[in-house]
Amino acid sequence: MKPRLAAISKTSPRIRETILEINNLRKVFRINGSFLTVLDGIDFGVKSGEMICILGRSGCGKTTLLRMLAGFLAPSSGEILLNGKPVAKPGTDRCVVFQEDTLFPWLTVKENIAFGLRGRTTDRKAFDEEAERFLSLVGLSEFRDYLPREISGGMKQRVALARVLILKPEVLLMDEPFASLDAQTREEMQNLLLSLWENLSHTILFVTHDVTEAVTLADRVLVMSKDPGRIREEIHVDLARPRKWEKSDFLFFSRKLHERLRD
Ligand SMILES: Nc1ncnc2c1ncn2[C@@H]1O[C@H](COP(=O)(O)OP(=O)(O)O)[C@@H](O)[C@H]1O
Ligand SMILES: [Mg+2]
Repeated sequence: MKPRLAAISKTSPRIRETILEINNLRKVFRINGSFLTVLDGIDFGVKSGEMICILGRSGCGKTTLLRMLAGFLAPSSGEILLNGKPVAKPGTDRCVVFQEDTLFPWLTVKENIAFGLRGRTTDRKAFDEEAERFLSLVGLSEFRDYLPREISGGMKQRVALARVLILKPEVLLMDEPFASLDAQTREEMQNLLLSLWENLSHTILFVTHDVTEAVTLADRVLVMSKDPGRIREEIHVDLARPRKWEKSDFLFFSRKLHERLRD
């Protein structure tokens, strides 16, 4: 089943001031008595409303970077500032969607989506309306009473998306969230994400190893290199949306990103 998608506008008019600043970030792990520098000299800013893709090959430190931005992991040095304040721990201003299924198996689709609202409001009606709104936004109203094991992988990722969006995070962090889906479902999810982004004006940092995904989604792609992980280049994808992979300007960016990943 497909959700109804809102029209996707051509540009990203909502981009405003810098909301997130990453300054000279470095992460060193200690493994069996020796030190492994996984990330070094990571420097970038993210503007409010921007859709950024962090593109890099497996093992270059993308997940490590996202975990630090989420506050799950402390940097070895450098700083992360959200609205000028250092990020020291997890918070609902930054939510993460992972590749793997992280739903509560004993809760229904609707209960999973509404879970984070518990304790935020005692108004039962408002609580229910908000849950229904996000169920509908991800096209799952008919599946509200299903359990996670009764729905497909793509639908699970819709639930995962809705249950963080309902918290209205300032920054949405996504770690290869569609990587385990089949090609068609992945494309549907990318369109859904773009539609939600257009409607809800989130700032999104989307990690991927997939060039086509990065060109489809991003305003700006940060290309990472490995050993240690660094941002080697920043590429602005100034293409109108919706973007079609078979178009020549799309292929131009794909080729460019493939080259950057290779050398
Ligand atoms: N907790 C950890 N302890 C030790 N090494 C780690 C830890 N987490 C990640 N690494 C190492 O850091 C490198 C980057 O990992 P990761 O951030 O998962 O990369 P990516 O997400 O780009 O595939 C890998 O070599 C991985 O083995
Ligand atoms: Mg990873």
